[in-house]
Amino acid sequence: MALLEVRDGVKDFEGLRAVNHVSFSVEEGKITSLIGPNGAGKTTIFNLISGLLPLDSGEILYRGRKLNGMPPHRIPTLGIGRMLQDPRVFRHLTVLENILVAVPGQRGENPLHAIFAPRGSHRDGPAVERAQEILRFIELEKRAEVLAHDLSFGEQRLLSFGRVLATGAELLLLDEPTVGLDGSMVNRLSDLFQKTVAQGGKTILLIEHNMEVVMGISDYLVVLVEGGVILEGPPEAVRNHPELLKAYLGTAHAAERRWS
Ligand SMILES: Nc1ncnc2c1ncn2[C@@H]1O[C@H](COP(=O)(O)OP(=O)(O)OP(=O)(O)O)[C@@H](O)[C@H]1O
Ligand SMILES: [Mg+2]
Repeated sequence: MALLEVRDGVKDFEGLRAVNHVSFSVEEGKITSLIGPNGAGKTTIFNLISGLLPLDSGEILYRGRKLNGMPPHRIPTLGIGRMLQDPRVFRHLTVLENILVAVPGQRGENPLHAIFAPRGSHRDGPAVERAQEILRFIELEKRAEVLAHDLSFGEQRLLSFGRVLATGAELLLLDEPTVGLDGSMVNRLSDLFQKTVAQGGKTILLIEHNMEVVMGISDYLVVLVEGGVILEGPPEAVRNHPELLKAYLGTAHAAERRWS
């Protein structure tokens, strides 16, 4: 069974069909990427999965369970986490504390205690251990005591990803996670996404315009144009497909920039 399945999803905005009878599946333990030109409906699909927007018709299933109709606050409790484009970090908390507030509360321990206690005290317990483990995984452990405010833009993006991991989410929805980052940070994030799937046992649904990243790390691609799926398959099958090139015609400049 697919981890996530979108079946014949439709979403209209005042006469504009943003999502047009879209169906696709996300296999567990893989990186699936949604690609397509601006306005293709990619972020709208994330909003439908997250429950922020209701579907007009069709359905979305997670582990076979229907998501439509569920209130948005229920979705994360099922194991679906979303990383937003702007880094959602608490700028006046340290890196460790930022992770700690995202770790779900454990019996006998309130992660908030570790935050409101004076710095340097209450620095143990399962939630803190878990937070430190995540910092090592995202390779930010050396920055643990730095205020998020003092991190570089790229490090804040890493931290933001660490916060999604800390929630324990199994399916990670990442909307253009590498946008605005320099080459070395893009590589660091793509390596981390691969490691998250290979070693962390997670599943990633990725929206990404950087074709080098997309073709380098995706197991499966779904290509959207004007709200509809025009092509899908593994990167080798999609990479030089005439439909993909056609999809980016008219946005030739953007395509050129993105393929570089
Ligand atoms: N809340 C909304 N109200 C009205 N129209 C919307 C709304 N959200 C998105 N749209 C429209 O729906 C279409 C799909 O938008 P969406 O943001 O999903 O595209 P996208 O594929 O994520 O594009 P991009 O690559 O630029 O992020 C666009 O025409 C957009 O203007
Ligand atoms: Mg978008």
